[in-house]
Amino acid sequence: MAIERLVEPTMAQGDAEEERIEVSLRPTSFREYIGQEHLKNNMKLAIDAVKKRNDGSTLDHVLLYGPPGLGKTTMAGVIAHELGASLRVTSGPAIERAGDLASILTNLKDGDVLFIDEIHRLRRAVEEVLYSAMEDYKLDIVIGKGPAARSVRLDLPHFTVIGATTRTGSLAGPLRDRFGIIHRLEYYKEPEIEQIITRTAGILNTVIEPEATELLATRSRLTPRIANRLFKRVRDFADVNGDGIVDKKTAEKSLEMMETDYLGLDPADRNMLKLMWENYGDRPVGLTTIAALTGDEATTIEDFYEPYLLQLGLLARTPKGRVVTEKGRKHLQNDKNMI
Ligand code: ADE
Repeated sequence: MAIERLVEPTMAQGDAEEERIEVSLRPTSFREYIGQEHLKNNMKLAIDAVKKRNDGSTLDHVLLYGPPGLGKTTMAGVIAHELGASLRVTSGPAIERAGDLASILTNLKDGDVLFIDEIHRLRRAVEEVLYSAMEDYKLDIVIGKGPAARSVRLDLPHFTVIGATTRTGSLAGPLRDRFGIIHRLEYYKEPEIEQIITRTAGILNTVIEPEATELLATRSRLTPRIANRLFKRVRDFADVNGDGIVDKKTAEKSLEMMETDYLGLDPADRNMLKLMWENYGDRPVGLTTIAALTGDEATTIEDFYEPYLLQLGLLARTPKGRVVTEKGRKHLQNDKNMI
């Protein structure tokens, strides 16, 4: 079954220590937030406009989408902070019934920001309650059962939803239409990842040499969460095997131990490409077939493996399925992938 992956861009479930460190590293303002310049500029403008109007109107609902680990939750926190608003965090799968959503909504205050992670996983019945709440700040609830049932409309505070999803494609049209601001988070540029690693090293009081920072950035899949995770592993390695200073040699040795290759691929990525190549060569393969080959869920392949492999051009998507590209084949055949 699925291998536990160091380069997994999602947060390890139930890993309280990882979560604690991640939260402590999170920037809280636009000034601290590195990268995503286009998104930041647009959000700054929208927030400044709300503040300038100062007429009780709220920020339009915001939908952030893109691969995991790029900072959607962090950005939601920054937006709430910049608005001077309180942030309430929940997720699609956590809201099981319409009543759960009703209780969240009725506890909000004017101007609050409600962050809904994995919004594409909301149940249909919950989604329908959300429509009118987002559209005109009304909550439609049914009281009673059978012939005596009646529907009542309650007023809700004026709030802003920030929805996050790895895929806009699976968001129902009516829900997507209720977001006034829709933005895709992009993979970071290498110099931005270097800045993020330098910032993290500073917060965690670790000395890292520029060459080591550069090396980690090239292996990070251009994803801050992975960059920070690699950094913490390398720092552990430096603490145990050296003087705690992260230099290039230490970084190389620990990356080798982690089997992260020069493109940031881990054994699970290489295994997927290898299985596809060995079984299908350059012919297209369906998602479910790939999932059967690797033992992962199709959604795991689609959300976690594929986006970065597509971005690198090692994999391509065609109407008939996924294909290993020439570049992918060459990467597999290059036995000096490690460092
Ligand atoms: N840590 C994780 N993501 C970050 C970002 N975009 N800017 C600054 N620090 C971060």
